[in-house]
Amino acid sequence: MVGLAWILNNIPTLLRPSLLLSIAIYHFIMTIFEVIFIERRPFFLFQLTQLRYKSFARLWTYNGEEMSIEMPGPLTEILSQCSGLVLDIGPGSGEILPRFDPSKITTIYGAEPAADLHAGLLRNAEKAGFGGKYKALLCGGEPESLIPALAKSGILGQSESGGSSAENGVFDEICCVRVLCGVPHPQETIRGLYQLLKPGGRMVICEHVANPWRKEGRILARIAQVVYTLLGWPFFMGGCELQRHTPRYLREAAGTEGWAEFKLEYVEPQGAVPFVVGELRKRV
Ligand SMILES: C[S@@+](CC[C@H](N)C(=O)[O-])C[C@H]1O[C@@H](n2cnc3c(N)ncnc32)[C@H](O)[C@@H]1O
Repeated sequence: MVGLAWILNNIPTLLRPSLLLSIAIYHFIMTIFEVIFIERRPFFLFQLTQLRYKSFARLWTYNGEEMSIEMPGPLTEILSQCSGLVLDIGPGSGEILPRFDPSKITTIYGAEPAADLHAGLLRNAEKAGFGGKYKALLCGGEPESLIPALAKSGILGQSESGGSSAENGVFDEICCVRVLCGVPHPQETIRGLYQLLKPGGRMVICEHVANPWRKEGRILARIAQVVYTLLGWPFFMGGCELQRHTPRYLREAAGTEGWAEFKLEYVEPQGAVPFVVGELRKRV
């Protein structure tokens, strides 16, 4: 029989995501009301993908700060060491910007596709002391969106072979914090980011992933991820997937040459939203 101790130990962690899912559903409904009655653009409701982005942006505007007070594992220390030319994928409204040290950074590009978050992003960049060093790009992290936006910003030069310098590496650091769960075709996107990294450059990772139930995770949490997905988690959470095998995609992105350093640790591997946090270094 299931004991009380078992229930107290397991149920709260497994149910915690349901609270966030309920909040996301609330914001989706409020977004629909806003679009119809305040913005008076009822036809926008037919642009379902845009509507979902908008609803997630609303959720993040209201809750992002609170959800960023505590970040998993050694992330704060790793971010504080970021230096040189940095690319931050999906910075949202810049809640994690205070964790960087602006004096170490020459320029930081933020690739954020949700237009509604840009005002907050620029405000927080200013507040964190970046001034003119912060460049917000209205694009996603997937190559077909990111590369044209970087080219337009002037950061991509021409390589000697005639192509853009993207494939030879541009950035000293690329940060992926709570974003790879939502990018389209993650394997290709991560490969694209790997190419944008200079030889010797570092990728900073803080991502929630599929529960590693065969190793340090547990099957119940893995099942909970399936249940939350069926309940509409990706739909209401702006495309966020709970079941991505991001550590494997990251390892594979370096191809046969492999990473010079691949340091990822699981945080709360027993939960329904386990994170991997760490840093990967590209070979010189
Ligand atoms: C959970 S928030 C995290 C924001 C920030 N990285 C943080 O940790 O505070 C996810 C962010 O990724 C953005 N996003 C969604 N799809 C994206 C894509 N394809 N490429 C880049 N960012 C994306 C969302 O708009 C949102 O701002």
